[in-house]
Order: sequence, then structure tokens, then C-alpha cells
Amino acid sequence: MRLLYSAYHMRTPNPRKAAPLLAFGLALLAPSLAALAAGSTMSAMVVSGGRLTMQTVPMPEPGAGEVRIAIRAAGVNPADWKMLRMTGPAGAAPILGLDASGIIDAVGPSVSGWRRGEAVIALTRPPHGSYAQYAVVPVDFIARKPRTLTFEQAAGIPVAAITAWRSLIDVAHVTRGQRVLIDGGAGGVGSAAVQIAKSRGAYVIATASARHFRFLRSIGADEVIDYTTGPFEQKVKDVDVVVDTVSVEDGIRAMRTLKPGGMLVWLVGQVPADRCAAARIRCAKPGSSGGQPATPYLDQVVALANAGRYRVSVEHALPLSDAAEAWRLSKQGHTRGKLILRIAARP
Ligand SMILES: NC(=O)c1ccc[n+]([C@@H]2O[C@H](COP(=O)([O-])OP(=O)(O)OC[C@H]3O[C@@H](n4cnc5c(N)ncnc54)[C@H](OP(=O)(O)O)[C@@H]3O)[C@@H](O)[C@H]2O)c1
Repeated sequence: MRLLYSAYHMRTPNPRKAAPLLAFGLALLAPSLAALAAGSTMSAMVVSGGRLTMQTVPMPEPGAGEVRIAIRAAGVNPADWKMLRMTGPAGAAPILGLDASGIIDAVGPSVSGWRRGEAVIALTRPPHGSYAQYAVVPVDFIARKPRTLTFEQAAGIPVAAITAWRSLIDVAHVTRGQRVLIDGGAGGVGSAAVQIAKSRGAYVIATASARHFRFLRSIGADEVIDYTTGPFEQKVKDVDVVVDTVSVEDGIRAMRTLKPGGMLVWLVGQVPADRCAAARIRCAKPGSSGGQPATPYLDQVVALANAGRYRVSVEHALPLSDAAEAWRLSKQGHTRGKLILRIAARP
């Protein structure tokens, strides 16, 4: 719109200069205008002026290799509100949200193996994120929804499970019998990590405040440590792998729990390399997946869930219109499992 406005108000009276710009602006807007004219719109929580606001926007159309998902639930991740801070206001990331569950509603050209009506989970990608009634997703970023989980629970899988899988399996190569410490075991990534480490036969130790102990035991933690009653690094030793989901400070303290040659996988901040060398341990961050397909990770976690070995605890499920409240809760940093946004289908 701004482009059209500038073209219309150009100082130059030369129509030969204005015409190409106007044509370009119209070409950009054509799909949106066509969607609005055809009535194919949806509600979405859009970033505007650095805030979340519910707006009516054009419904996305799937391209080659993509499906459109009618979203039933979206998972909330700290990355969502951190992304808002990074990209700043206006325009750069209009629809946030990385986690979705829902039903395939349209299939793009050259897609095989997926049909309308199938229930799926997806790693969505802002600016076409999951805080909306619909999202278009490449097929290598979706997986079939676990039979064992509701849409709300299943929406809590993608980011948490992929992060935990990459940390424990791709980076740390956790094997049967190893002692694994999950710092922040009750959160989204932490609870995924407890279950994935357990599925590999590890002995799992988790830190949390006491209110999460029963939950952590129920998802397979062998030992739980209350971080509020003293330094956790004095209560655990001979660990092979630490996954730190809390802070750099915790990561540095956790070094003392590791065996020589053990591995610290850190997810927050930047652990100084010289501290790792001095502690005679290895340190690694899973890093960005760089657009790597999510389906291979999601399929393995779905298989665990279908076998009853992976579940998602939903602490709060709020309507999409309450996304700002979900962010407020997420920023407090004490969620058990996941915060979820419920998304109503279009009438
Ligand atoms: N680098 C990556 O690829 C990547 C990917 C995903 C997430 N992350 C980051 O990883 C962090 C965790 O993400 P998340 O989704 O798991 O967050 P989350 O669900 O909000 O984590 C909340 C959990 O952290 C626990 N916690 C807070 N302070 C703690 C402490 N001092 N010791 C032990 N547990 C503590 C809380 O337990 P209590 O209630 O007991 O305090 C709560 O259960 C975030 O900073 C996120 O941005 C990084």
C-alpha cells in the first residue's frame, strides 16, 4: 500500500516514470486483493508496531511442494517473543509462531503422499507462522499427528522436540546407560529432553523446583534436584552429558558435574570456550538447523508418542486472541511443559 501511495504522490509529473512503479505495486498487491475480493481471508495474530494484534489477512495458497494447514493449535516458544525483539516493529515478521497442529486443508502442486483431511503437526516459518487460522508449509516440515495426543498437546512437539533431539542425539550421541543431566527439565525443551534421553536408555537427572517433581518422575526422570534449595552442582556428579536450557551461568556451574571428556550442550547465550577447555569437557550448541527438513525429527518423536513414550503437558491453553497473555506467562520462565494457543476454525 505504501508503495502505491508513493507512486500516486510522486513529485514528478512524468507518467512514464510513475507507471512502472504503479504496475509493480499492483502486481505485488494483486494476490492479496484477489484473496480479499474472493473472500478467502483468515484471522491471524499479526505483529504491528511491535505489538500483537488480531487482523483479517489474505489466506495463503500452497505452492509446489507445500500444503495448507487449517491450524487447531499453536505452541508458544520463547523464540516467538525473542524474535519480535530481534526483528523490531512493523513488517519484518508479520505472523509469528513456529509450532502448529491441524488438518491439511489444501495440497499444492507436485505433492504426493499427503491428502486433505489428514491431521498433522508442523514446524512453521515466520513470517508465515502458526499464530493464524491457516499456514502454508513445505511437506518436509510436517508429520502425521500422534494418535495418542490431542491437537493442543501435539502442537507442543515441534520446536521443543527437535531441539532436544538435535542436542541429545545429533550433538551428544547419548547412549544406553549414560548419565544425562537436563538443567530446566520441566520446561518445553527440558521435558522433551527428559523423554528422549530416557528413550535412549540413559539415566536421567533433572533440575526443577519441587512443584514439578511429580511431573518429572511421570515422564521418566530417575532423579530430580530442587535448584531452589542449594547449588545443583553440589548434588550430582559423574555426568556424561548436560543439556542446559536455563542460562550461561548454569552451564558454567554444570561443568563441575561432568566427567572429564563429558559434554555440555548449551542452548542459551554463549558459553566461553576457554572455560570448557579448563574444565576438560566438550561444549557444543546445536546451532541453527539452517532450513534442514524437520520431518525426519518429527517422525521419530511421533513414533515415540504413538508408543506411549512421549507426551506433552499443556500448562495453559489460551485462545489465539490471548497470545499476549501467553507471552507474559512464557516470559516468567516457569512453565511446566508447554503453553498453547487454541485456534478456532473459520466458520
Ligand atoms: N538454541 C536453540 O536452538 C534453542 C531452541 C529452543 C529453545 N531455546 C532456548 O532454551 C530456553 C528454554 O526454552 P523452553 O522452551 O524450554 O522454555 P520454558 O518452557 O519457558 O522453560 C521453563 C522452565 O525452565 C525452568 N527453570 C527456570 N529457571 C530454572 C533454573 N534456574 N533451574 C532449573 N530450571 C529452571 C522452569 O522450572 P521452574 O518452574 O521450576 O523454575 C520451567 O519449567 C529458552 O531460553 C529458549 O529460548 C534455544
